[in-house]
Amino acid sequence: MLKLETERLTIRPFTKEDIPALHTIFSDPETMQHYPAPFSYEKTKSWVEKNLQRYQKDGHGLWTVCLKETGEVIGDCGLVTQQVEGKKGIELGYHIHKKHWSKGYATEAAIACRDYGFQQLKVDRLISLIVPKNKPSIRVAEKIGFNKEKEILIFYKYHYIYAGFRQHGSKGDTS
Ligand SMILES: CC(C)(COP(=O)(O)OP(=O)(O)OC[C@H]1O[C@@H](n2cnc3c(N)ncnc32)[C@H](O)[C@@H]1OP(=O)(O)O)[C@@H](O)C(=O)NCCC(=O)NCCS
Repeated sequence: MLKLETERLTIRPFTKEDIPALHTIFSDPETMQHYPAPFSYEKTKSWVEKNLQRYQKDGHGLWTVCLKETGEVIGDCGLVTQQVEGKKGIELGYHIHKKHWSKGYATEAAIACRDYGFQQLKVDRLISLIVPKNKPSIRVAEKIGFNKEKEILIFYKYHYIYAGFRQHGSKGDTS
């Protein structure tokens, strides 16, 4: 069972009990401004269920991000398999409740998930797909060391591909 710990956060698999807390994030129009629409409660439920299936199928997915001190669910972060330009890519994604924006939580969670992907799963390349207007998300990608590769049309919108690569011979890398 995955459990990642950072200085301030715990990252663990989604449970169905997380749905109400996650829904306060996904139903918010400002948070979801770069998505087709804020989620209905049913859509949040299916988002969680889809990730529970991803754990079985891929061995990873989006996970719940909690504050270590209180256990409060403040978002999600994780690794999602995507088809990008006809090839399999592993995307590092993140969503944080807006009351907690700009405290460095997405960056802290993304670093833990990035390191898990490179060091435990031995993924060679991780990507983030980000619409050009999503400046906070671009900033997170930059802060975790990803670089912009190009712009592509995916999910009916232009997105930048930001990518980061596993450093062979780095700490935890036994390959
Ligand atoms: C993207 C998101 C997860 C970032 O979460 P967060 O916890 O606030 O991120 P962090 O605090 O780690 O870093 C945010 C950075 O963006 C910067 N930022 C915030 N608003 C900004 C803006 N309008 N323009 C430029 N930079 C901005 C912050 O200053 C910070 O950078 P800094 O550390 O250099 O000052 C959050 O904004 C979110 O949930 N957005 C909605 C969901 C989403 O779009 N997810 C990404 C899909 S690709």
